[in-house]
Amino acid sequence: MTQSSRLPGFYKVTVQERRALASEATGATVADIEQSLDGGGLDAETADKFVENVLGTYALPYGVALNVRVNSKDYLVPMVVEEPSVVAAASSAAKLVRSGGGFRAEVDPPLMTSQIQLTGVLDREAAKEAITAHEPELLALADRAAAGLVARGGGARSIEVRSLGEPSDQMIVVHVYVDCRDAMGANLINGIAESVAGRLAELAKANVGLRILTNLCDRRCVRVHCRVPAAALATDEMDGERVIDAIVNASRFAELDPYRAATHNKGVMNGIDAVVIATGNDWRAVEAGAHAFAARGGSYVPLSTWRRGLASDAHASSGKSVLVGRLELPMALGTVGGTLRVHPAARLSLRMLGVESAGELAQVAASVGLANNLSAVRALATDGIQRGHMALHARSVALAAGATGEMVERVAHMIVEARDITLQAARRALDVARRASLRPAAEGD
Ligand code: MEV
Repeated sequence: MTQSSRLPGFYKVTVQERRALASEATGATVADIEQSLDGGGLDAETADKFVENVLGTYALPYGVALNVRVNSKDYLVPMVVEEPSVVAAASSAAKLVRSGGGFRAEVDPPLMTSQIQLTGVLDREAAKEAITAHEPELLALADRAAAGLVARGGGARSIEVRSLGEPSDQMIVVHVYVDCRDAMGANLINGIAESVAGRLAELAKANVGLRILTNLCDRRCVRVHCRVPAAALATDEMDGERVIDAIVNASRFAELDPYRAATHNKGVMNGIDAVVIATGNDWRAVEAGAHAFAARGGSYVPLSTWRRGLASDAHASSGKSVLVGRLELPMALGTVGGTLRVHPAARLSLRMLGVESAGELAQVAASVGLANNLSAVRALATDGIQRGHMALHARSVALAAGATGEMVERVAHMIVEARDITLQAARRALDVARRASLRPAAEGD
């Protein structure tokens, strides 16, 4: 359980020191962190049980986002991502949101949707009536295919019949809505689809088509909002009120233009995917659901929006403006089963987060998505994205040039100042910095 997610100076210390700080904050022991993460958390033999034709494993950086507070609870949030600046962006935007009281989130019950396609349906209305009249029997049949889930309090809840296309298409699709509790639910839902399909076809006098879940699980959405005081948003060049205007304009741009909406949503998914991967969940499923949801009205829109609001709480003096952000998307995550059972790093992530349900995990992941989105639109609407990116990129280049310890920051700073963020420049800067640090103090330093 995270005590506080505020850990000033965390980025400056060594990996070993960070592990100790993360351990103190979350209760996971340093040994646990080491064992779960060293070597990428997964050996080739275990990987061989996951997928086919394994040659080895492929590691990605595992960081933690700081400052995250959701519904008054602090979280140190594990993020697995290869892109520089994503973890830093989540942490810095979460700090801004924290100054306005943190994220407020709510989540739907964990209802997943099973789809059974029926073809060759000559009378779609009659088929619909027959299926609807047998709903209790069909739900019981579905539950028999998921006895373990029913024992955990989940199970099939309702049925919906939808006609697709023209009557001449002779096609209907039956949705079975299933409460998956803390499982992501893919295997459960697919099993249920296969178990009820035969009876559905009988009732509809039809043929069985596809039997599979839909990733557009729009009965399992998460909603997050936040209120950031204007003063917290100010930059060196712009006051907070102007930054709010600029971010609202950025939001409107995304709302009016699918080309911009795609990139805006990519910024949201930078945060969400990183948490989804760190917790051993299926990020392709979450991505598919997010983008289908973004296009549900017939045009592709941003998953989040930003507006000006009036401060009305203790976190900002009343009468002042706040920036109000909102995000909604489907989120099928699990905290039991699947990869989680076997991947030590995924299990560590859940222990560090201290989440009690898949719904709570969805609220945290969505909050981090909104944080990454805020960070991106604030940078884009003010200084531009390159300045911050370049500073972080410079650290990777400094590392690649052989800098270690405090030399990393020093070399990164030197190549940013020189506006030459290349390996050669970093090597030269490292040489200069090393020679300077070896010079005796008597020489006048
Ligand atoms: C880069 O990974 C994400 C951004 O392009 C998002 C955005 O444009 O809002 C910076």
